[in-house]
Amino acid sequence: MIIHLTDPSLVLLIGPSGSGKSTFAQRHFRSTQILSSDSCRAMVCDDENDQSATSDAFELLYLILAKRLARRLTTVVDATNVQSSSRTSLLTLAAACGVPCVAIVFQLPEEVCQRRNLQRATRHVPPEVIANQMAALSESEANFEREAFACVYRLTNEADADRLTIVCS
Ligand code: CTP
Ligand code: MG
Repeated sequence: MIIHLTDPSLVLLIGPSGSGKSTFAQRHFRSTQILSSDSCRAMVCDDENDQSATSDAFELLYLILAKRLARRLTTVVDATNVQSSSRTSLLTLAAACGVPCVAIVFQLPEEVCQRRNLQRATRHVPPEVIANQMAALSESEANFEREAFACVYRLTNEADADRLTIVCS
């Protein structure tokens, strides 16, 4: 699969924990282009797993994103984004800056996410959290085409995600 991005774009990664969003972002984008909710959590409280810091972390993420989009810099948001409300605020910000927003949806089978989560050396999310995120994603995934994305790319198996090329122009 080839993903065509106009430069600048806001790229929203959407998918449960363990679906491979951060791995994908690091493989295809420069570190300065990636805004990760986990990194912002770590910046505000020293612990990327501390859910009590989520609100502060997103405040920081939005602030940096607004600055980058105002400078017309392509930016990737690496967060689960499985709730439509979280996507709406990011879409609104992109629209206000006149930057198109592209969704890359990691719709892998739940067992892949659960397995990867368990194999991860650094961090294990409780399995029920992944199950809930999968449910939230399948509830809202039919709506993606009605949200204001310039384009929605769906990765439905491990090979799709691994064989993808991004062309930015
Ligand atoms: N992984 C893998 N092969 C891939 C993608 C990911 O083996 N093609 C592994 C990663 O090395 C990592 C685990 O799967 O150990 C989870 O991937 P990660 O990118 O961290 O998933 P995220 O979606 O970013 O999870 P979270 O939302 O919890 O940050
Ligand atoms: Mg991640």
